[in-house]
Amino acid sequence: MREEKMRCEIVVLPGDGIGKEVTGEAVKVCRTLASLASLDCSFRWGDIGGRAVERWGVPLPEETLTLCQQADAVLFGAVGGPQWDTLAYDLRPERGLLQLRKALNLYANLRPAKVLSPLIEASTLKREVVEGIDILVVRELTGGIYFGAPRGIEITEDGEKAVNTMVYTRQEIEQIVRLAFELARQRRKKLTSVDKANVLEVSELWRKIVNQISAEYPEVEVSHLYVDNCAMQLVRDPRQFDVIVTGNLFGDILSDEAAMLTGSIGMLPSASLRGRFGLYEPVHGSAPDIAGQDRANPIAAILSVAMMFHYTFHRPDLAHRVERAVEKVLAKGYRTPDLQGPYTTVVGTKQMGDLICQEMEQE
Ligand code: IPM
Ligand code: MG
Repeated sequence: MREEKMRCEIVVLPGDGIGKEVTGEAVKVCRTLASLASLDCSFRWGDIGGRAVERWGVPLPEETLTLCQQADAVLFGAVGGPQWDTLAYDLRPERGLLQLRKALNLYANLRPAKVLSPLIEASTLKREVVEGIDILVVRELTGGIYFGAPRGIEITEDGEKAVNTMVYTRQEIEQIVRLAFELARQRRKKLTSVDKANVLEVSELWRKIVNQISAEYPEVEVSHLYVDNCAMQLVRDPRQFDVIVTGNLFGDILSDEAAMLTGSIGMLPSASLRGRFGLYEPVHGSAPDIAGQDRANPIAAILSVAMMFHYTFHRPDLAHRVERAVEKVLAKGYRTPDLQGPYTTVVGTKQMGDLICQEMEQE
């Protein structure tokens, strides 16, 4: 009997700057995987960010949202560029991404920060501090101060006044914390919850809920850190961390810090999830200064494909196949210009993608 081919419907949103180049290589890797593993992968493309503002007048067109709602997963590039920085708040390219996260209810943002051994010298920290770090930041992505109301700027009798609101409901906290426990259970079983409970009521509730849920996961060791202390501990001794769970704003900040520990922000993927549905994107931005020059590092986008096979398609075997190919190509000394050093061979975006595909085929 003929086996049914697994279907993967993927929407690609290249966005701005280097987004197009890096998602191009990520699609190449998907196609290679599809032929190696007999998957039926289909791709559709949509506009988002500055490019969408130019073509449709808004950073997130209805058409793009509908495409995403019909797909299994979204592969996202990057948004933004200096030509759009002066636009009104609602027309900024970044708004497209924020609206998409909210509209698709992608409440869980997973940002792994892992040091790959061929790149250990790329970190600005000492080898003995960063060797072997493997941290997963789980950031709440659709609530908190990013979306709380009231918000805005008003003119008062005393001059201008600006307001943002940090707000979390029990339900919002429970769903992200529960997922973090599940992930910690599958890893080294250590969960650090980060808050500012010495100042904020939102954090007081957050901490209470973490403690309640921890009773369901006796095998996971839980600790609480204030966000300022966590920022300090991340550079002092990052190896103490396994899974970090935190709210939207703290997670935004700490995930950049964790990324920098690895020395290569151009390497880091991320997943924004609601159940199996996910949007996968490199952590780096649109890098307009190098766009269109075949200089961008496509590895973060390619490792985002690995995360897609892990979390949406539940094929960790294929995810690992991508990750192994990346490590092998790096171990052979190939680097894009952002990572070049002594004893390396500098390659462009496309060649890096080709090398990774070849390595997957040769396995
Ligand atoms: C990120 C980015 C976004 C965020 C910006 C571009 C809105 O910094 O994905 O971390 O703050 O969430
Ligand atoms: Mg950020």
